[in-house]
Amino acid sequence: MQLQQVILNLVLNGMEAMNRALDGRRVLTVSAARNESKGALVTVADTGAGLAPDNLDRIFSAFYTAKPEGMGMELAISRSIVEAHGGRIWASPNSPRGAVFQFVLPAGMET
Ligand SMILES: Nc1ncnc2c1ncn2[C@@H]1O[C@H](COP(=O)(O)OP(=O)(O)O)[C@@H](O)[C@H]1O
Ligand SMILES: [Mg+2]
Repeated sequence: MQLQQVILNLVLNGMEAMNRALDGRRVLTVSAARNESKGALVTVADTGAGLAPDNLDRIFSAFYTAKPEGMGMELAISRSIVEAHGGRIWASPNSPRGAVFQFVLPAGMET
């Protein structure tokens, strides 16, 4: 249940990032796959404005937001949820533009 919340947060962030981008096609991709160690790898990719390289980790800090009405809590909460399940979450640049958020979870866990 909490993990659905994480995916929802990432989807909403992706949609917001694409809303703020003025031009270009808006594509949000959500996918799930089994990773090497038989855990799950979930990927949410968008074609929004993307992230500055030095922001890729900072955005997971509590209260970090670039939005006038943002709370800056969702990514921080998402990271604690994923880590509480023994997983990892990170961001990287999409190509040619936008952001990719991914998290891995170990195999055989209860959600
Ligand atoms: N998909 C994304 N593309 C670009 N920037 C993003 C994306 N997701 C998050 N961010 C950046 O990370 C910040 C923190 O996100 P979040 O923790 O969800 O808080 P909030 O959405 O309230 O700002 C956002 O304000 C934005 O600057
Ligand atoms: Mg958000």
